[in-house]
Amino acid sequence: MVVHRMIPDFRRTAALNSLRELGWFSHLEWYEEIDSTNRSLHRRIKDGSIALPALIVTDVQTQGAGRGGNRWFSPPGCLMFSVGFSSRDLLLQGGASLASLPLQVGLSVAQAIAPLVRSQPMVKWPNDVYIEDRKVCGILMETSYGNAGIGDDFVIVGIGINCHVRFDAANDEVRRNAVSLHEVVRTSGEVSSALESVVPESVLLRFLQVFRENLVRFQEDPESFMQAWRTHDWLAERWVSVQQPHREVIGRVVGIDRTGGLCLIDSLGIVHTILSGTVRLIPTDAGVNHH
Ligand code: BTN
Repeated sequence: MVVHRMIPDFRRTAALNSLRELGWFSHLEWYEEIDSTNRSLHRRIKDGSIALPALIVTDVQTQGAGRGGNRWFSPPGCLMFSVGFSSRDLLLQGGASLASLPLQVGLSVAQAIAPLVRSQPMVKWPNDVYIEDRKVCGILMETSYGNAGIGDDFVIVGIGINCHVRFDAANDEVRRNAVSLHEVVRTSGEVSSALESVVPESVLLRFLQVFRENLVRFQEDPESFMQAWRTHDWLAERWVSVQQPHREVIGRVVGIDRTGGLCLIDSLGIVHTILSGTVRLIPTDAGVNHH
């Protein structure tokens, strides 16, 4: 049986050095265990005890938060971190629009892990990342608007990536739907070096490099964002149902618009642009009129 340990000290120290060398974060912390990196970052920003941009990483979460009030399965081997930006940081980073930022984060995860795995990672709008139709990464973004003007606004980007996770202790849904990078790693030479490429700290550094470049590139060249999205769009041409607080929209996905809205065409040919909602695939034999 494989025993999953916390990241050993020497690896964490090396990772922290590499993170410092990036020169991006004014504040960096790496815990062995914490309730939730999103919550912790939120508390620290609110009490004014840290400078932004900030990064908090942990080996384990006791109350990992998912979207829609769900819990995030957070054992050792899952890379879990939160990045906090002020609106000003984002402007300095190229000015990513808040509307498409969630999509840019998911896309950056997909691009960062693509060279490490045997199949193309795909993004399920707005930002879940899937490999071979199972979820490998979840993203929880929280924005806060202060009262004292733009300088008070901040965004927390919380990311969980299953790097070397065993799902035995997870609930049924996670066991059915989740995948870990080590299960789908690309092996051309030695298996051990392939597995090393997907350890949490390597995946974290790859992601941060790709994300940082994308913040600038996608802003300067919005078409490159649209192009990259099309390459990783898991929902393209699929029939979906989108649950919103007061309605359900059913349609075929035709892509996204420039602000990151999901575009669907319903069975009457009407185009709907979705800004938020829970998207579910409709099995093709569900009797929906597709014409
Ligand atoms: C989802 O429901 O898909 C989003 C999951 C987000 C999980 C990450 S793990 C790091 C960060 N801290 C949290 O408590 N949640 C996010």
